[in-house]
Amino acid sequence: MKAFPRTTLDAQPAQSHVPHTVLDGKLVPWTGPSMEVYSPSMVDGPGGPQRVCLGTIPRMDSAASLLALDAAEKAFDNGLGAWPSASMATRVEAVEAFIKSMVAVREDVVNLLMWEIGKVRPDAEKEFDRTVDYLRDTIQSVKAMEREAIHFREEGGFLAQVRRVPLGVALIMGPYNYPLNETFTTLFPALLMGNTVVFKPAKYGVLLITPLMEAFATCFPAGVVNIILGRGRETVSTIMETGRIHTMAFIGTHKGASDLKRLHPHPHRLRAVLGLDAKNPGIVLDDANLELAASQALAGSLSFNGQRCTALKILWVQKGIHDAFVEKLAAGIEGLPWGLPWEHGSKITALPEDGKTAYLDGLVQDALSKGAKIANPSGGQFDATFFAPTLLTGVTKEMRIYHEEQFGPVVPVVAFEDIQEPIQYGVESPYGQQVSLFTQNPAALGRLVDVFVQQVGRVNINAQCQRGPDTFPFNGRKDSAEGTLSVYDALRAFSIRSLVTFPTSSDQKSLVTDVLSQRSSQFLSTDFYL
Ligand code: G3H
Repeated sequence: MKAFPRTTLDAQPAQSHVPHTVLDGKLVPWTGPSMEVYSPSMVDGPGGPQRVCLGTIPRMDSAASLLALDAAEKAFDNGLGAWPSASMATRVEAVEAFIKSMVAVREDVVNLLMWEIGKVRPDAEKEFDRTVDYLRDTIQSVKAMEREAIHFREEGGFLAQVRRVPLGVALIMGPYNYPLNETFTTLFPALLMGNTVVFKPAKYGVLLITPLMEAFATCFPAGVVNIILGRGRETVSTIMETGRIHTMAFIGTHKGASDLKRLHPHPHRLRAVLGLDAKNPGIVLDDANLELAASQALAGSLSFNGQRCTALKILWVQKGIHDAFVEKLAAGIEGLPWGLPWEHGSKITALPEDGKTAYLDGLVQDALSKGAKIANPSGGQFDATFFAPTLLTGVTKEMRIYHEEQFGPVVPVVAFEDIQEPIQYGVESPYGQQVSLFTQNPAALGRLVDVFVQQVGRVNINAQCQRGPDTFPFNGRKDSAEGTLSVYDALRAFSIRSLVTFPTSSDQKSLVTDVLSQRSSQFLSTDFYL
């Protein structure tokens, strides 16, 4: 039997700091109530395995959260504050300064990604570097948008200049599985478009924001970035109830998103950008390339222990290839090294969510009681925060795992004969993020593509589901998302087009020409930014 990974107390990172937050442009030491942050990695203690305590964060309350909102609202100042009215060049300079400070603390953030959420070092480094690349690409994209905006359009006797302007105060919340990347891919587009921000880091993966706090406080004008820490119910709910949030980015469950939106007294005034639940199917046809399908299913189901919104969460395998596919996938799963995130070669690590292994065991026991089988020798074993990757075969619609998003290392396989069965699953599913199709048959593939483009936001051919490249649109249908993200789309999501128009008569043209030459308007301008 494989050993469950354990760390030692002397391996843990130093707990140096007093809890801090960022409010109204200042890095503020926190003297109020605080909360301990624990690692999913365990040490053996006298009373059994224990989670390692990594430090503390402020447990802010409603009053403190409202201070953050007040600061953001004051900085926005109805769109006339220093930040929303700054030139794009000024905003880009601020973000470039932030990136410089961010790169300087790369190792601290990577270390906390490993300790706080159990992400293995290569993936933690990739998350950091991908985020920096995303911010740099966003800067290029915003410059292109600005260059486009200097042109005047002429239609039906009118000239017009169209530009994108900010929405107002943005509430930005990120998920624990990509606490840096997914949070920053909404936070920075919102900032670059001139919004001011109240930022609530993810529930797990929260200490890793600490090394970046000083940069948030110093790179942006007062009130532009404000950080709230603590429990969502004691912080975010209060802010939403005020009705003073104009746009919200949230990555989590559709239920959580709906509950939050409902708290807003004027939901029609709230622009929401949501990344929600998903249960992406992988569909393997008899003629698929076995090697390729099994290796993509392995990576697609179990990278970061299956804790990706884009993970393959149910595999539909046609009967002619089923046994060979299951055998290959089971061997691949058994070969994944269990370990600590910082150990070379580790693939399967402990899970950060409270109660997660009990939940996964519940799914497995439910399936077994209804006739499913575990197809890999270590499957089903768990201990404290660690759950062995588990391949379940014989899955049917009576089982919870068929419907629920496991978001963990349990891989359900449904055997099918008629292609109509997985099609029906996709059509009836409440989720609509992505699908992976494994086949070499152009006729079957063409039909499946046409069915699934009507159900999901992305169809992957002979490849696992994923978000990247980040310039591709990332969205979902039904309960899986609201809005579209990409380097370009996120800039659109956090802004709205405003236009200034005038009749093409010579006296109006002459007036506007004077505005342009005197540079009396920030909006009505042909200044070029390279
Ligand atoms: O958890 C959802 C992420 O956006 C997935 O991104 O496909 O690059 O792992 P990824």
